[in-house]
Amino acid sequence: MGIFARKTSWTPEQIPDQTGKVVVVTGGNAGIGYVTCKHIARRGARIYIASRSLDRTLPAIASLKEETGNENIHHLPLDLTSLSSIRSAATTFLGSESRLDILINNAGIMLTPYGLTKDGYELQFGTNHVGHYAFTHLLLPTLLRTAALPDSIPGSVRVVSIASEGHRGAPSCGIDFGDVNLEKSNPATRYGQSKLANILHARALHNHYHASPGSPIFVSVHPGVIYTDLYKELSGPGVVSTLLSPFMWLAKKSPLFISLEEGAWTQLYAATAPGVESGSYLEALCSVGTPTRQGRDEGLAEKLWEWSLAELERHGIKADAEAKPTPGLAEEDLRFIPPFTPTHFLAMINMHTSLENLDERLWHLSRTTTHIDISAFFPKLGIHAAPFPAQSVLNVEFGVIGGVAGECE
Ligand SMILES: NC(=O)c1ccc[n+]([C@@H]2O[C@H](COP(=O)([O-])OP(=O)(O)OC[C@H]3O[C@@H](n4cnc5c(N)ncnc54)[C@H](OP(=O)(O)O)[C@@H]3O)[C@@H](O)[C@H]2O)c1
Repeated sequence: MGIFARKTSWTPEQIPDQTGKVVVVTGGNAGIGYVTCKHIARRGARIYIASRSLDRTLPAIASLKEETGNENIHHLPLDLTSLSSIRSAATTFLGSESRLDILINNAGIMLTPYGLTKDGYELQFGTNHVGHYAFTHLLLPTLLRTAALPDSIPGSVRVVSIASEGHRGAPSCGIDFGDVNLEKSNPATRYGQSKLANILHARALHNHYHASPGSPIFVSVHPGVIYTDLYKELSGPGVVSTLLSPFMWLAKKSPLFISLEEGAWTQLYAATAPGVESGSYLEALCSVGTPTRQGRDEGLAEKLWEWSLAELERHGIKADAEAKPTPGLAEEDLRFIPPFTPTHFLAMINMHTSLENLDERLWHLSRTTTHIDISAFFPKLGIHAAPFPAQSVLNVEFGVIGGVAGECE
């Protein structure tokens, strides 16, 4: 326990091959998030950097591609201070990916002056906790589904919440539900509450969703103390920062700080190493830690879970409606769809267009990339399936159209 990092025998060289995996890292454009992306990219995963600033993300992606040779690194626009941006980010992601193997909730702000997010939460609590809770909530069905895929190694699907030893500065009650914005408190208490919430979130995810060894693994992490932009509030203008800057200069040279490179190791370990226990709290460098009493309080974890869920519902993010995956159809999904016979498809086309136009319509379909959203016909045929994006519908259609065309000739 503590802010001083212990030595580890684990290094990113031990990250297993990640080819075929899809990984999302919030705040992957800078700091330890960037280094995290770099090592995972080297192992071949497809990576989405979920971040708010295009001008800081595009150069980061260019340099990641150059450093790793991995061209599969994409930007997913996400501003954690806005629930509507979070919703769009999730929709965009789910529209292009059918799986999610690793979600690293890394983005964060620290010791910012009092302010509110677009939805009225205190900035640190809103960004660090509420934003990540909402984002995770919307991606969770896909994570669960990925864990159940035949090609998923048990325990390889993970959600990593980057917390901090700063959680020790949370209010004595842990989360102050009566005054969650803590306007009258100081920035360190507000940061502490937000980071305690990250630990409790991972704990609650574990309690709700880690049902068997094949379930996803949920972990929280204190990465160590690393000099990154996170400290910019301390080095910006102002009396406090002027007083603190010599201290910061000295501190950077002290054993308190670990390197930027090592700062990413614990979350990389949490995201990829075998043997990581779901529900655990890891400290720098890759050791199992013990959070405060509040951080271990299952009742508090559940209370925060319920509170956060109610907040999402209050803002129109409905768990049941939106938590449903809207995946593209992976090949393995096709097994779960009842086989279409030409008659089935003919029946669907019939509902859509008249028979005399059928030949022309099939000819048109076979020559263009336009698609009929056949999922709209499913309920009429007693087939209950999720809506599919265009590309997947096309894949299904072309297979079937061949059959129909054959019969119509
Ligand atoms: N550094 C440490 O000593 C330390 C210690 C304990 C815990 N941590 C935790 O480690 C994590 C990473 O911190 P870091 O040190 O790497 O800091 P950093 O270099 O400042 O990186 C923070 C990242 O979060 C992103 N971010 C901030 N607000 C966001 C928002 N509203 N929407 C989307 N992205 C946002 C930033 O994006 P922009 O480029 O757009 O600003 C940036 O990519 C944080 O959760 C932090 O609390 C760090």
